[in-house]
Amino acid sequence: MAEFLLPKKSRVQKGRTHAAAEGAQRRKVFKIYRWDPDAGGNPRLDSYEIDMDKCGPMVLDALIYIKNEVDPTLTFRRSCREGICGSCAMNIGGTNTLACTRASADIPGQIAVYPLPHMEVKKDLVPDMKHFYAQYASIKPWLQSQTPAPPDRERLQSKPDREKLDGLYECILCACCSTSCPSYWWNSDRYLGPAILLQAYRWIVDSRDEHTGERLDELEDPFRLYRCHTIMNCTNTCPKGLNPARAIAEIKKLMVVRTI
Ligand code: SF4
Ligand code: SF4
Ligand code: FES
Repeated sequence: MAEFLLPKKSRVQKGRTHAAAEGAQRRKVFKIYRWDPDAGGNPRLDSYEIDMDKCGPMVLDALIYIKNEVDPTLTFRRSCREGICGSCAMNIGGTNTLACTRASADIPGQIAVYPLPHMEVKKDLVPDMKHFYAQYASIKPWLQSQTPAPPDRERLQSKPDREKLDGLYECILCACCSTSCPSYWWNSDRYLGPAILLQAYRWIVDSRDEHTGERLDELEDPFRLYRCHTIMNCTNTCPKGLNPARAIAEIKKLMVVRTI
């Protein structure tokens, strides 16, 4: 019978336990993935019991509390603390989301916190985003136009054209969607994944962009676009409520329309 196990060095082991101070009234346990490249060895799951009366309501508040008060070696990314920068994306309670907008009270029982799945880990909760950003750069995420810009004002759009960007421009490139996509897990070397395809579509539908044909040519590939099998994990997980699966479907429609 086939056995599916992680390689020995990747198996997560039991880690250290940090108890809350005596007298803590509202206790909550956070089980946090830890891996330090300098120390080597296997990753481990450390257990931190937190007095919730001492920290703010979001999972990011708990992580900051742990780092400041319990264990300064815990490593994670964050910046804006309000769901704008995308840097605190991680897997919390089994779902990819933003630590700064996920309330600890909404997760029953112990809270498991892991880095975004299927990414190389730099340290603890910090994934390596190099490849993801290189894929983003590959779709040329800027306006491409031959027509010179008017000298005295911006390039204008009609209201309906501007509305076509709604649901796209709000993407904060957190990668929650791409790292929840099974097709991206197995083929991220060649498949662009939902986040980057949503961004590609954002420029394809921009009425001011004049490289629509070239952009579609770039995506016309069995892997870059067509590895999406409409599994929908991406849309279900997006913490900004966006719909990357729809954006991908719209690109596929445009591919068909231009062959007719
Ligand atoms: S709809 Fe496509 S991009 Fe989204 S999770 Fe499924 S396969 Fe991945
Ligand atoms: S579509 Fe949503 S989940 Fe995906 S990168 Fe953008 S904001 Fe994050
Ligand atoms: S810290 Fe910026 S999105 Fe969470």
